[in-house]
Amino acid sequence: MTVRTFPADFLWGAATASYQIEGAVHEGGRGPSIWDTFSRTPGKTLGGDTGDVAADHYHRVAEDVGHMKELGLEAYRFSIAWPRIQPTGSGPANPEGLAFYSRLVDELLAAGIRPVATLYHWDLPQALEDAGGWAVRETAERFAEYARVVAEALGDRVWMWTTLNEPWCSAFLGYASGVHAPGRTDDAAALAAVHHLNLGHGLAARALRDVLGDDARVSLTLNLHVTRAATDGPEDVDAKHQVDAIANEVFLGPVLEGAYPERVLAETAHLTDWSFVRDGDLELIHQPLTVLGVNYYSTGRVRRLQGERPVGDGSPGADGHRSSAHSPWVGCDRVEWLPQPGPHTAMGWNIEPQGLVDLLLELRDRYPSLPLVITENGAAFEDEVSPDGRVHDPARVRYVADHLEAVGRARDAGADVRGYFVWSLMDNFEWAYGYDRRFGIIRVDYETLERTWKDSALWYREVVRTRSLVP
Ligand code: NOJ
Repeated sequence: MTVRTFPADFLWGAATASYQIEGAVHEGGRGPSIWDTFSRTPGKTLGGDTGDVAADHYHRVAEDVGHMKELGLEAYRFSIAWPRIQPTGSGPANPEGLAFYSRLVDELLAAGIRPVATLYHWDLPQALEDAGGWAVRETAERFAEYARVVAEALGDRVWMWTTLNEPWCSAFLGYASGVHAPGRTDDAAALAAVHHLNLGHGLAARALRDVLGDDARVSLTLNLHVTRAATDGPEDVDAKHQVDAIANEVFLGPVLEGAYPERVLAETAHLTDWSFVRDGDLELIHQPLTVLGVNYYSTGRVRRLQGERPVGDGSPGADGHRSSAHSPWVGCDRVEWLPQPGPHTAMGWNIEPQGLVDLLLELRDRYPSLPLVITENGAAFEDEVSPDGRVHDPARVRYVADHLEAVGRARDAGADVRGYFVWSLMDNFEWAYGYDRRFGIIRVDYETLERTWKDSALWYREVVRTRSLVP
């Protein structure tokens, strides 16, 4: 049996996000975010869960970095809460907010771990949403100012920057299906949000390089959807391409090629005239990326809808986020989502490592000189604490192993994948699903906030130590 081994410069990490782990929402001068508002609105999250306490990471930085060090992590991907830095989304920086992340970064460096900071992982200051949110241009401009403030404070120590995490979710789950904050259901607003997120990315990338120099490492993380056509028939293949356009090309196009795909403009023309795209915007968005961050979990399957759409089907498809009467698939009225065969994770997402191979090879073909990093991959399962106090989670180990094997196969075939961050370092607030879904390799007991390594953490430590997939 051959053992899959990764090279010495392949980066091993784990990822989290601010609202999902920090808690302490009223501390350190933090202002309210859209997720505070949304999660406190009855019916929006499972069990009415909020991020008020989450994993209490805000008070446990030293302990958590200790776990990372013991895991042997080489890099840690975290996000910065904009409302900790600018409580109302503009104006002078809040020193306590900067101090919190400065301490985190220092602890990481002291532990020999590279800090990989995401500027926006969905916790928009509520004041900016009140002024129109991502549907208005102003938010992109404020985002660039915020990026500048953070770069000035932390730029000497952060190893790599990510502007946005999964703008697809911010735009389409936030403004079209409404299952994420701010919970709006307005297709035209979602398309405007797409553009202003893209613009925010470009402006923030420029601000980072303006402060830190041209060699600053700047990335963007996308959740590119791997969608299969149900048959080889031209109509079903076309349905797949339609989804690719609205979910993937709408970001890849402007960011990596400097243009929106014609198909997206044509298929959404009844919703908006795209007049929010101003002269010069596409050049601003089209900034060089040091790497592209790839988040991957599962695949979807579609066919061209024949006849009437079944009643109540606002099916979210492969994203698997809580269903809504409103679809996130803006402009895709005649696309039908089909259930994927199992196995599935606790999210109901199918497990298909080959989808990751396919995605990485497609990116290799289209952007041969663009390095890639897997910025998220992992799985929720129904973990149980055994009488011995441990969490035996062989399904999660299997999931991560199979996807790392997929990364290895893609690398063998020439995909330039430079690293892997497991989602997640620890159990956390899984957005609309609250604390019900656990993605951590470390368990969090939400009563005591105690951390316990699952078997997957013990296993991952060996993977990182040996840089190989230990059987
Ligand atoms: C993607 C998101 O970036 C992260 O916040 C989320 O918890 C995971 N996927 C799992 O759904």
